[in-house]
Amino acid sequence: MDIKQIKKQALDELAKIRTSADLEQYRIKYLGRRGEVSDILKSLKDLTMAKKRKIGAEANQMKIDLVEAFERKNREIQDGKYGTKTAKIDVTAPGIKIIHGHLHPLTLIMRKVEEIFQSMGFSAVEGPDIENEYYNFDALNIPKDHPARDAWSTFWLKTKPEKLLLRTHTSPMQARFMEKNNPPFRIIVPGRCFRYEATDASHSHTFYQLEGLMVDEQISIANFKAIIGEFLRKLFGEEVKTRMVPSYYPFVEPGFDIEMRYPSGEWLEIMGAGMVHPNVFKAVGYVPGNWQGFAFGVGIDRIAMLKYKINNIRLLYSGDLHFINQF
Ligand code: FA5
Repeated sequence: MDIKQIKKQALDELAKIRTSADLEQYRIKYLGRRGEVSDILKSLKDLTMAKKRKIGAEANQMKIDLVEAFERKNREIQDGKYGTKTAKIDVTAPGIKIIHGHLHPLTLIMRKVEEIFQSMGFSAVEGPDIENEYYNFDALNIPKDHPARDAWSTFWLKTKPEKLLLRTHTSPMQARFMEKNNPPFRIIVPGRCFRYEATDASHSHTFYQLEGLMVDEQISIANFKAIIGEFLRKLFGEEVKTRMVPSYYPFVEPGFDIEMRYPSGEWLEIMGAGMVHPNVFKAVGYVPGNWQGFAFGVGIDRIAMLKYKINNIRLLYSGDLHFINQF
């Protein structure tokens, strides 16, 4: 057997290799457990002592040389000497960013507002989006054919015999709750409302309100002012600019609106409120003289607009990711 011949053949073959896949084939062929070098070393046992010593030494040297040449070649391939860099993992490379979803600004504000009222002892309850005339109007001292009904432009559903509607405010839940519970209590009612009206920068046909209702033996406007003042300071900070103006809602007496000032100087109405009207207490079966309470309905979209400095309510419902991703 001609060891020099085999070695030359192996080195010639190695010189032509350019990829790690070919190099692996080469390694199996020459240096593997059943490769040519092993075969030679194994066949030594059949030789005479003298030949064994001579050929054995040559074969071992060949193995050392071929392994060295193989390793050199392997490094060259890894270093990209032959063009394509082979699968080399750069553990310091930045990872691929995973895109996370996140909460909508209205959800963020709603949660924050609920949290503030809960910290002041209010419990959250929810009511149905689809209401009947009784709870949306009659129980709230807004009789049929009363012009005050026009203030809530209504989406009517095509249902018979009972006329159903999409609630125009969260106030119906005042009556639903009081029918089933006795004072004293303080509740909030977060929910979606609907009005059949043209949209503009601060009006949408679909929007969110959070109703508040606190009833006890002695509740006054001073309690309302304290609670709402605390709420607004907790949400907007000590510097918040608000004013209370007289207003009319059939289910309160007296009634008022709270307005908040934009940095631009404009005033935006954020809630309607007032002291619960005796007729509402009567409708739910309370003895009016025994109880006093305040109620309010705050526009969550308007609060979000003021908090995040959004000048158009429609952005909140646009689904535009350029807008949404800022929160
Ligand atoms: C009401 O809906 C009364 N239920 C509020 C109330 C509750 C008064 C309890 C007294 C006692 P008003 O229509 O003003 O009132 O709406 C209340 C708030 O909801 C408004 O101040 C405003 O912030 C918000 N709002 C009303 N209409 C829209 C609309 N189309 N788009 C966005 N927000 C609205």
